[in-house]
Amino acid sequence: MKVISTIKELRAELSKERQEGKTIGLIPTMGYFHQGHLELMRRAREECAVVVVSLYVNPTQFAPSEDFESYPRDFERDKRLAENVGVDYLFCPSNAEMYLPNHLTYVEVEKITNKLCGASRPHHFKGVTTVVAKLFNIVKPDKAYFGQKDAQQVVVIRKMVEDLNFDLEIVVVPTAREEDGLAMSSRNTYLSAVEREEALVLSKSLQHAKELIDSGERIAQKIKEEMQKLIKSKPHVNLEYISICDHKTLEELSRIEGETLIALAAKAGKVRLIDNIVIRD
Ligand code: PAF
Repeated sequence: MKVISTIKELRAELSKERQEGKTIGLIPTMGYFHQGHLELMRRAREECAVVVVSLYVNPTQFAPSEDFESYPRDFERDKRLAENVGVDYLFCPSNAEMYLPNHLTYVEVEKITNKLCGASRPHHFKGVTTVVAKLFNIVKPDKAYFGQKDAQQVVVIRKMVEDLNFDLEIVVVPTAREEDGLAMSSRNTYLSAVEREEALVLSKSLQHAKELIDSGERIAQKIKEEMQKLIKSKPHVNLEYISICDHKTLEELSRIEGETLIALAAKAGKVRLIDNIVIRD
């Protein structure tokens, strides 16, 4: 595995690979790898001749009050894990490499970025789409891999790809979960023992929603109330939102119909966690 920190060097390497007719898979990440990241890499390894992982904690997607500085980082461990999965290139640019001092251009997807997580993180998705667009232009992948855990991010990136005519396929890989059901996240590492225990209520509430739907419930408000009741029983968990919405447009639904996304965000202590399930009615 080659570790590369400049755009110029990565482009030179990938242009050789492309000339040999090889397909390129990109996994954009912010590092601190868990099984979810490794699943994305394994999937890309199966499907593409060349696998590129970008490891970059992107400052433009964090608000000043958020955890950019303290976001967990462990480069040596990440390098070892990526190498073991068979990644070909680990791209880890500096901030100076990614954003010139006179950087003025941002990519912004409208409307669907104001809902769900966008309601409390108004600039987050603009940072995500900007850096992902830059990575797509740098790597020019045939396929790019994202986790279903970040359901809204996937919807927003798909829209950007459609609207800006990026010539690539987005591959979405199911959420990786701990044995007890907690969705894997680099931020889980911040949870205290009691917060970790109580955070389980999030995946349990989604499971409960699925059971209600399986047993015939279709009214979104009723399902939300049942989920809220469960989550409120955990004093360390503060619910931010539950959304029951159309999987593609993120429009809130009053009845479960077609492909429905049930997504939530909550804080366990100070740690913001998200999770979701997709119901195919
Ligand atoms: O999902 C993430 O880790 C980030 O939002 C991404 C896609 C790597 C952009 O910085």
